[in-house]
Amino acid sequence: MITECVRVLADGGSICWQVGNFVDNGAIIPIDSLLYPIFADLGLKMRNRIVWHFEHGLHCSRRLSGRYETIMWFTKGDDYVFDVDPIRVPQKYPGKKYFKGPKAGQYSCNPLGKNPGDVWTIPNVKSNHVEKTGHPCQFPVELIERLVLSLTREGDWVLDPFLGTGTSIIAALRHQRRGIGAEVLKKYVEIAKSRIDLAAHDELPVRPMHRPVFDPKDAGKNLLTAPWLSESQPIEQALLLEKRTPYRTRK
Ligand SMILES: C[S@@+](CC[C@H](N)C(=O)[O-])C[C@H]1O[C@@H](n2cnc3c(N)ncnc32)[C@H](O)[C@@H]1O
Repeated sequence: MITECVRVLADGGSICWQVGNFVDNGAIIPIDSLLYPIFADLGLKMRNRIVWHFEHGLHCSRRLSGRYETIMWFTKGDDYVFDVDPIRVPQKYPGKKYFKGPKAGQYSCNPLGKNPGDVWTIPNVKSNHVEKTGHPCQFPVELIERLVLSLTREGDWVLDPFLGTGTSIIAALRHQRRGIGAEVLKKYVEIAKSRIDLAAHDELPVRPMHRPVFDPKDAGKNLLTAPWLSESQPIEQALLLEKRTPYRTRK
């Protein structure tokens, strides 16, 4: 599959290969580490290993709960398409100015926003997500939109050999690109077709790219106060960590 993807990839084009961690009988296997040599042997160069961080998922009891997947971004050749402007994010200190030198007094940041970096916090598609379908591991459209907008130009083709519910084609269509994909399960092909049809008519409900991640502080005091604490002792919650007994391993 990878060899064929590389074969059909245009010079200057990109492959974004998204993987999680495979869990084998309680042991974590980092799939990206296993796949990297295959891409490198085919002559592709890795430009970023993007960490997609999300905040919800299974709660693990014998290891830390998994809250990220990785996207390996490879290019075919050194003269590749990359435009960060459409995916810039707000500056932390937009009012910051140069304090010395020839630009003293001028704003020091890019007025279009900052480079989003290689760790992206984007909500995953869980039951209350506006894009949720019956597929168990659907990607959020906004995740793929970032890749489409920065790594392709209008009119380019986006190919997804593991199409699922059609998210990558939807992201492509929303930004005047073309999309094509393959999916083995008929039930997902049906979902993909219907979503793509809605997207083509601009009627698909989608979480917008620049909406901030949900912040419980904005959701009201009720959610922030642990019900087992009285209103007058919220400080107790902060002290929980200090009260913990030191961690010891069993002999
Ligand atoms: C992680 S899901 C992709 C989800 C997709 N990104 C979305 O947002 O809906 C992987 C999909 O690849 C499909 N699949 C697995 N093996 C395949 C193959 N050999 N050819 C095509 N599709 C395959 C699975 O049925 C599954 O729907």
